Amino acid sequence: MRPNLVAANWKMNGSRADNQRWLQEFRAAPAHCETVVCPPFVYLQDLVQGLVGTAASVGAQNMSDRVAGAWTGEVAAEMLIDSGASWVILGHSERRAAYGESNEIVAAKVERALAAGLKPILCVGETLEQREQGRTQQVVAEQLQVVLQRCPAAQLLAGAIAYEPVWAIGTGRTATPQQAQAVHAAIRSQLAAQDPGAAVAMRLLYGGSVKPANARELFSQPDIDGGLIGGASLVAADFVAICAAAAR
Ligand code: PGA
Repeated sequence: MRPNLVAANWKMNGSRADNQRWLQEFRAAPAHCETVVCPPFVYLQDLVQGLVGTAASVGAQNMSDRVAGAWTGEVAAEMLIDSGASWVILGHSERRAAYGESNEIVAAKVERALAAGLKPILCVGETLEQREQGRTQQVVAEQLQVVLQRCPAAQLLAGAIAYEPVWAIGTGRTATPQQAQAVHAAIRSQLAAQDPGAAVAMRLLYGGSVKPANARELFSQPDIDGGLIGGASLVAADFVAICAAAAR
């Protein structure tokens, strides 16, 4: 069975004081599933230190597709590893929509992350308009295909894929377990067309308004292997409860 994975995406939230309070609560109730915490870049090392002795890993929320050099404001994969991160979220819909990250840029970042030894959480998902037009499967398949052309599924296995319907992110409007399961199953068959073994082993996370109250039902779907948690991950007790729902 695929081990569930739950990742916290703090987005642009937190402060050193908030983070210490969060760590205190999180450490008091250790998670019983594989866990990754993704704070803003500047707090990576604090989280790495704060999570010593727990089973949780640390990840970044983005990175450059370049190796090093004159790219003002960018952060390289090797720098993330040097800071103690082992994961990186790539292609989040907020990066795609607000910072113009195309499928090609996301694919280049995934390739760079894998080359550096980081585990990518590749995010895919449709907007409300695309869903209403009946284009969900097509949009998600395109987002994944561009990555698969550069990075075979067997390589992506180092990380995970997160299906996050854009209309469910931060809106309190979760996809129903059936809606999420349908897209997860489609992603898995797309992977299977390239590599059946990798498709079976790939962890597919759901993201979009996951809360303690709906986590268990979502994670009990056959093709949902954990979650990428935004808002609810900022409250340590809620994140711990979501991790508990993912414990098998
Ligand atoms: P949300 O965010 O849980 O606040 O909806 C999920 C995400 O954007 O990863």
